[in-house]
Amino acid sequence: MKMEIKSLAEFIRKKLKSKVNLSSYDIIGSIAILDIPKELENKKIEIAKFLIAKNKNVKTVALRKEGRSKKFRIKKIKIILGEKTTITTHKESGCRFLLDLNKVYYNPRFSEERLRIAKKVKEGETVLVMFSGIGPYPIIIEKKANPKKIIAIELNKTAYKFALKNIQLNKCSKIELLKNDVRKELQKRRYTQCADRIIMPHPTEAEEFLSYALKCAKKSATLHLYTFKKSDESLEQIIERIKEKIRKINKKTKIEIEECKIVRPFSKNLSQIVLDIKIKN
Ligand SMILES: C[S@@+](CC[C@H](N)C(=O)[O-])C[C@H]1O[C@@H](n2cnc3c(N)ncnc32)[C@H](O)[C@@H]1O
Repeated sequence: MKMEIKSLAEFIRKKLKSKVNLSSYDIIGSIAILDIPKELENKKIEIAKFLIAKNKNVKTVALRKEGRSKKFRIKKIKIILGEKTTITTHKESGCRFLLDLNKVYYNPRFSEERLRIAKKVKEGETVLVMFSGIGPYPIIIEKKANPKKIIAIELNKTAYKFALKNIQLNKCSKIELLKNDVRKELQKRRYTQCADRIIMPHPTEAEEFLSYALKCAKKSATLHLYTFKKSDESLEQIIERIKEKIRKINKKTKIEIEECKIVRPFSKNLSQIVLDIKIKN
């Protein structure tokens, strides 16, 4: 009897007769994306064929390119098999997201984290999403909670355009989407003390935007700040650093850290973390 190969790891071990460890890959819409170790470079097409045969929704297989654009956080892909498109529609938490993987940032591995935040949003809140990308935070928040309004700001013109399409695709009506630099947009007077909750999903830069968050926060508000933790740093050290930054902006602000945890490992020496911070002014 022929045994069916169930996983990529099993395919590599049994069919390619290799001991190289490659078990995980991402599927975004109809595109499977993987990092091929050097030892399996000459087997990449066989691996791609296996992924298309195994996953009925996968029509394209691509490799992740090295590096990431600094400002827009885009990690490009290179197609190796199947339909030659980097545009796809991905489902997350019952919502649909149209995107071009080579022109915008999107990471399906944050779906649980986005849902965690959406579940915290209370009825009638005004939520501010800095760095909103193609719109997963605002759209999932509108669909899973009952806020009054969501303000979302994104600088990448292409991500903004996809977010507009995604707002329509998911029939959202509470999102005010703005194409601008968060710094420029939030300088405007209309944002002073406007938000009950502020989401800051830009791990390399969010800490630099704390003064804008404090300006926009109502007298009592919650911040969700994403940042990086080096392997030789403790969560306590990071909490202290963030508290210090907030005190420097306004020494009267009362700070309570509701939660601080690792969201996912980023590289050998870095993990992405989130801090849920309650502030009172
Ligand atoms: C890490 S991505 C997060 C995107 C989105 N929130 C998500 O979860 O998919 C950061 C986003 O911030 C945008 N960005 C970077 N600097 C910005 C700025 N100064 N103002 C507005 N958006 C900015 C990037 O283009 C990118 O889409």
